Amino acid sequence: MQYGYFDDQNREYVITRPDTPLPWINYLGCESYFGIISNTAGGYSFYRDARLRRLTRYRYNNVPFDLGGRYIYLRDNETGDYWSPSWQPTGSDLEHYTCRHGMGYSTISGARRGIAASTRYFVPLGENLEIWQFTVTNHRLAPAQLSIFSAIEFCLWDAQDDSTNFQRNFSIGEVEIEDGVIYHKTEYRERRDHFAWFACSAELDGFDTQRDTFLGGARGWDRPIAVERGQSGNSVAHGWAPIGSHHVRLTLAPGETRRILFVLGYHENPKDAKFDPPDSQTVNKKTVKPVITKYLVPANADDAFYKLRDYWAGLLGICQVSTPDVHTDRMVNIWNAYQCMATFNMSRSASFYESGIGRGLGFRDSNQDLLGFVHMIPERARERILDLAATQLPTGGAYHQYQPLTKKGNNDVGGNFNDDPHWLILGVAAYLKETGDWSILKAPVQYDNQPGSEQALYEHLQRSFRYTLDRLGPHGLPLIGRADWNDCLNLNCFSDTPGQSFQTTTNKEGKVAESVFIGGLFVLAAKEMAAIAKHSGDVDEAAGYLAEGARMEQTVREHGWDGEWFIRAYDDSGDKVGSKDCAEGKIFIEPQGFCVIAGIGLEDGLARRALDSVRKYLATPHGIVLQQPAYSRYYLNLGEISSYPPGYKENAGIFCHNNPWVIIAEAMAGNGDAAHDYYSRINPSAREPIGDIHRCEPYVYAQMIAGRDAPTHGEAKNSWLTGTAAWNYYAITQWILGIRPSYDGLEIAPVIPVRWSGFAATRKFRGVTYHIAVQRKGPGNKVKLTVDGRPLRGNIVPGPTDGRSESHINITIE
Ligand code: BGC
Ligand code: NOJ
Repeated sequence: MQYGYFDDQNREYVITRPDTPLPWINYLGCESYFGIISNTAGGYSFYRDARLRRLTRYRYNNVPFDLGGRYIYLRDNETGDYWSPSWQPTGSDLEHYTCRHGMGYSTISGARRGIAASTRYFVPLGENLEIWQFTVTNHRLAPAQLSIFSAIEFCLWDAQDDSTNFQRNFSIGEVEIEDGVIYHKTEYRERRDHFAWFACSAELDGFDTQRDTFLGGARGWDRPIAVERGQSGNSVAHGWAPIGSHHVRLTLAPGETRRILFVLGYHENPKDAKFDPPDSQTVNKKTVKPVITKYLVPANADDAFYKLRDYWAGLLGICQVSTPDVHTDRMVNIWNAYQCMATFNMSRSASFYESGIGRGLGFRDSNQDLLGFVHMIPERARERILDLAATQLPTGGAYHQYQPLTKKGNNDVGGNFNDDPHWLILGVAAYLKETGDWSILKAPVQYDNQPGSEQALYEHLQRSFRYTLDRLGPHGLPLIGRADWNDCLNLNCFSDTPGQSFQTTTNKEGKVAESVFIGGLFVLAAKEMAAIAKHSGDVDEAAGYLAEGARMEQTVREHGWDGEWFIRAYDDSGDKVGSKDCAEGKIFIEPQGFCVIAGIGLEDGLARRALDSVRKYLATPHGIVLQQPAYSRYYLNLGEISSYPPGYKENAGIFCHNNPWVIIAEAMAGNGDAAHDYYSRINPSAREPIGDIHRCEPYVYAQMIAGRDAPTHGEAKNSWLTGTAAWNYYAITQWILGIRPSYDGLEIAPVIPVRWSGFAATRKFRGVTYHIAVQRKGPGNKVKLTVDGRPLRGNIVPGPTDGRSESHINITIE
């Protein structure tokens, strides 16, 4: 069953009924000001950091979980009937409903009894504000007397404190109302220099800023007393719960349409100019007023929207493909790239599954997110790389997470996730391949954000690499530390106490448990380091990396191969994890995918055997599960992985993040059919017809789909913020379609399904627009290229030497 449809022309997903199985959301903003918005207008906004600068309130684990949002109420002043055109929060019946989620905006429309209303929400580029463009039309034959109420609830900034520290918070709320603009200034009197504001373009009939006045006693957002009565209370919040609500009355003639703008913004004042007059406690509004005035003009709001639309057309235009598969096209051309922007901005911080008060940006996660983002805005990728590297520790290890506002490493979580440093190498490699900007290697970067500790980024990479060599275990494999990519394989945390963190409670010495996965990761990192060193002219150093890589590969072959597949790890007792000798968890996906990506066994059939084992033991129609057989009980020596009921999350769920590792591995092994088949199994667009099984949004990837051991096999959870976005984008564009930035130019090496007759693509790369046409002439993967009519030797397009900015590449596959 479907809950909507793709409108590819407009790059929108159109939801046609409000009661989707779960809230289906979108992100507003892609720079500094962000919001989450559900298909029924639920969600919240924040400036840069979902925890530390939350503008509007969200109640955790609410039912439904998108309750609380950017609400508009309509009231028929003749009958007293009132409703939400976005369906929530009143839940009143609508005769017509659609939600169009687009690139950086959402338009939610609803009609009731001849009154059609529609609100487009978006964040203009370069501004710290969101615009709600509200339109209402009277389709009745008689005039309509209407009241319109806006409603948001302010968060008292630190979202964690806001949801826990009530003894204080109920007494600190403060607002100002001036010229109909509501200013939220809680804590402004003391250490904050920022405030929020909420303005309306129409003449007001009233306002409310105290929640209890607006809602009334013992009422929720579904039945505000002010709306029921048709009259705001003009309340001024002192303590309790500041909100923002405007009330506008309208008389609409038959057929008449009116437009109203509501604008919510964030503003900072200089520390020494907070008040006006300076010795007062009144917010200085001198610098914010021009912004407010500007965006209350409809033409300016429209203009900002068109700019946003053009901006996205530009970003997506960097890579556009036309293949025989609509789901591939739609994800590559629109939604997967779009999701990569969200994961780049949010890491794993703010969605309806990530609370925004927990994790900030993850070191491992953000480095991987670059794979799907770097081609869109390389400058931002560069900045991110340098920020991440600055949270690296002098040992070469790294803080596992950092807070985006402060950019400081998170002490609560600390480091010792022994895969972390290598993702920095892969992130930088991706940046270099895309941009050719080798200057980044010379950029001075601190360790642990300590001034004076600056060293060139290249030195950081060297330390990343050495980190593993300094931490080898009994078999010569990398020690795992707290965890590697799989946060739930906790081999040094024997936890028998409820509530302990599996990740940060480390009670084993950590000198025995080893990770074959990190072994594979290291082999790949060694190749990248060698290429980087070689390019920088350091041939000896390059040879050194290759030698270390080769040694590790040998170790993996000796101690990490189980006969039919790669072993996952050795535990604290030196016993194998992910081996035929294990009672449960005999085979894991991660080392199969990653060791092959690292090139291990591609020459001698080991890779093929590993991938055949994946097919035999792990592949399901809904995707590839993480391991088998699922753990049926809790194992003290394995940790969180065995805490999950079978089929969920890391315990044999389909962890969509690592499916593309197998997809890439299959492509590397020359098997385009298998690669694209696996790709399609988890492609959300391809899963749209089974919306009631999949349940999450059909336009973005979810972290997990329940595995075959779960009663809900096929059900997705944790949509949006997952490494799945970047890895699938990377897998389909660079390995299946084979349009692959490399150190020396654009490499073209498609490994597409045999039945495909070819495909076309446009790819902007290092200032040149490449028009790529691929034609299959035979069933293999051998490619022949002509560039602007001339045959090319090899398959790496070095880029035009004559300064031209367009180039045509024709490829035949035999
Ligand atoms: C989840 C992992 C996640 C980790 C983060 C675990 O509960 O299962 O997917 O990476 O928490 O700390
Ligand atoms: C989600 C985390 O964000 C990511 O860092 C980790 O690799 C996976 N879970 C697997 O545990």
